[in-house]
Amino acid sequence: MDWGMRNRMARMFPGGTDGNTVMLAVDHGYFMGPTRHLEDARATIAPLLPYADAIALTRGILRTSVPPSSTTPVVLRVSGGATVLKEDLSHETITTAMRDAARLNVSAVALSVFVGAPHEHESLVNLAKLVDEGEEAGIPVLAITAVGKELEKRDARYLALACRVSAELGAHMVKTYYCDGFEKVVEGCPVPLVVAGGPKLDSDRAALELAHGAIAKGAHGIDMGRNIWQSAHPVPMLKALRAIVHDKATVPEAMDILDGAKARTAAQTAARA
Ligand code: 5RP
Repeated sequence: MDWGMRNRMARMFPGGTDGNTVMLAVDHGYFMGPTRHLEDARATIAPLLPYADAIALTRGILRTSVPPSSTTPVVLRVSGGATVLKEDLSHETITTAMRDAARLNVSAVALSVFVGAPHEHESLVNLAKLVDEGEEAGIPVLAITAVGKELEKRDARYLALACRVSAELGAHMVKTYYCDGFEKVVEGCPVPLVVAGGPKLDSDRAALELAHGAIAKGAHGIDMGRNIWQSAHPVPMLKALRAIVHDKATVPEAMDILDGAKARTAAQTAARA
């Protein structure tokens, strides 16, 4: 790995590439439109940005909703072309040139790969080409594994397949979902794995448990969105997740951090009123 690529990886993984990262995912609008609590992306992002090791988003939200003075590393989503209005979400292509990613000074580019979906082949070829371009530019590639609808989305066998195929095609990092048997997914993937949170869970505790399970089983961090900014307490939630990812906090310890941060936020709000 050349210096530029290593430097970008180090920025996203503050404890080194053997360490962990807390990525804040706010890229949902590229196919879901104005997702709940992300309607005003700038307002959602601003209070969370200081607590994220990296932020994952599209160039449209980066240019409109993140101040250029920000030093938080950017993971730029560069695939798209389908929306939730169509059956087949796998019909994606590369929507942002590597030159624009370099111009935006990003730390990584990200695309979805759709294993087991109608456009599996295209998405895997997109990944391979993006890796070639990323190697040339010194920009790492994050493969986001989306498994086709017809397969069990959270089945370790399929997630392991999707992650391994992505790594074999050259992805420098892979994002996947937490599942039963997650250690099998980690075991078969030779590059750092981060986990998405998926749709909002019933409670903040459930999201903390998900993160804790993933880290305990070998994930190198999280790339989480809805379970942070759709929580009633986004900043306390992000602080609690950081404690799990970076400080090996248990779930009860993370809940204490969450409750403490909630109480401080409530006191500050009352003082301002
Ligand atoms: C959207 C994505 C999201 O970044 C990913 O799913 C993480 O967000 P969440 O935790 O809300 O699932 O890839 O396509």
